[in-house]
Amino acid sequence: MALLNWVEKHGDFFQGKKAVVTGGAGFIGSHIAEALIDLGATVVIIDDLSGGETINFECFKDKADDRLTFIQDTILNTDMLKDAFTGVDYVFHQAALGSVPRSVEQPVLYNQVNTTGTQNVLAAATEAGVTRVMFAASSSAYGDSETLPKIENMPVNAMSPYAANKIACEALMSAYAKCYDIDTASLRYFNIFGPRQNANSAYAAVIAAFAKALSADKHPQIFGDGEQSRDFTFIDNVVHANLLAARSDKKLNGNVINIACGDRITVNQLAAKMAEIYGKNQLTPEHLEERAGDVKHSLADLTKTKDLIDYEPQITFDDGLVPTVNWYRSELEGTPAN
Ligand SMILES: NC(=O)c1ccc[n+]([C@@H]2O[C@H](COP(=O)([O-])OP(=O)(O)OC[C@H]3O[C@@H](n4cnc5c(N)ncnc54)[C@H](O)[C@@H]3O)[C@@H](O)[C@H]2O)c1
Repeated sequence: MALLNWVEKHGDFFQGKKAVVTGGAGFIGSHIAEALIDLGATVVIIDDLSGGETINFECFKDKADDRLTFIQDTILNTDMLKDAFTGVDYVFHQAALGSVPRSVEQPVLYNQVNTTGTQNVLAAATEAGVTRVMFAASSSAYGDSETLPKIENMPVNAMSPYAANKIACEALMSAYAKCYDIDTASLRYFNIFGPRQNANSAYAAVIAAFAKALSADKHPQIFGDGEQSRDFTFIDNVVHANLLAARSDKKLNGNVINIACGDRITVNQLAAKMAEIYGKNQLTPEHLEERAGDVKHSLADLTKTKDLIDYEPQITFDDGLVPTVNWYRSELEGTPAN
């Protein structure tokens, strides 16, 4: 499903290696797992299916032969983690509860899954002798600061329990790399999009929500005037960054690095581009009241990411949007939008 050829990018490094992908039945985790399978690794997916679906990895299970195992369980089960991490080289820790507004409604649950769950993953990985843990951090750590672009050494500012959990986890990643015999890195993702991103949740990300509306011949809904901008990043770039981080011959030492495209698109531009790909230009956006707490603009500086893991975005926003829209069309056409 990827636009990139992983073997061309990463050679035989992962051949015969063993990796765990937590949250591997979700959007990002399933793409990381698929790339690792393409690269010859043995992959264990741990996911409790609270947000993900088995179809997200069943669709590539055939090419895995017997190299893909699925454990349906929660990262709160420390005994399971201990067993699952035996003999594992790399952990790509993607499992989390994902929605910012839902975290405001359920802060205790979010802290349990997102922070305690990450602590559990780190402890089990350290005990099992895992080489490196890659953590799915978030650009929400930057809060509502208006300074652009976002540079990793800017102060963090949690505007939600979700962001607070992600910042706490970055601190844990750093502490583990410094105190124990394990390496870690926190990859701060900026608005990731691509096939398999869930469009059916009440908290769907903007591209998924627009796809759901357009597929059902409805007008996409925008909170505010639509001039807010985001560094929308196609999924292959995120997978590439995770693989580069795992492969790095430097000690990453709990460093935080931005993962993005380094470009920003307004939500109005996004809606227009998507309507055009759908051939439904008449479905102009409907503007709703601005949401409290929404950040106006977001854009990543990628200098540190380039220096540390030699990452450069591989797929532009426009090149990623077309296959994403095509995927939603085939998945959703005929599905009514809420
Ligand atoms: N999508 C983005 O734009 C974005 C941006 C910043 C950070 N992130 C982070 O990236 C990671 C992956 O996000 P995604 O977009 O693929 O979300 P997703 O919801 O598709 O995937 C998350 C997966 O984690 C699983 N999960 C949740 N709780 C679990 C638990 N207790 N035990 C085991 N599995 C559990 C879910 O079932 C789901 O399959 C998350 O940590 C998210 O916070 C995503």
